[in-house]
Amino acid sequence: MDRTALLNEAKKAMGFAYTPYSHHKVGAALLTADGKVYSGCNVENAAYGPCICAERTAIVKAVSEGNTKFKAIAIVGGMQGVLRSFCTPCGVCRQVMREFVTPKDFEIYVENGEGEQKTFTLEELLPESFGPENLSED
Ligand code: THU
Repeated sequence: MDRTALLNEAKKAMGFAYTPYSHHKVGAALLTADGKVYSGCNVENAAYGPCICAERTAIVKAVSEGNTKFKAIAIVGGMQGVLRSFCTPCGVCRQVMREFVTPKDFEIYVENGEGEQKTFTLEELLPESFGPENLSED
């Protein structure tokens, strides 16, 4: 699955975003090492704190089905579901990605309202990060 195809899956997922409070809809599509795609949308809540981002929805779906090896994630989003600027992941989602991937290899695909696409590595978006190796005693 290439970048455009994964971004298209993210756009489909954005259609399910539950955003009665912010009206900012986001869709994500996570590509696993064995070629499966897990999609996710943001799911908001009247209590605000329990809101979950699209990226984490996709990651939690994958991990909860036994998939923890990831190659890439595509993300799109915008107010009322209209793409304008690139929807890059929030800091919490970057850290959650970090748990499962090698930052220099994991790719993040985004697209703006002009149809321009960009690829970042997680290393670029979360440099000098803290991860599972930091808790190793050897
Ligand atoms: N949101 C995401 O789902 N992913 C991002 O990368 C940025 C923010 C959601 C959270 C909240 O539901 C809404 O967008 C506004 O912050």
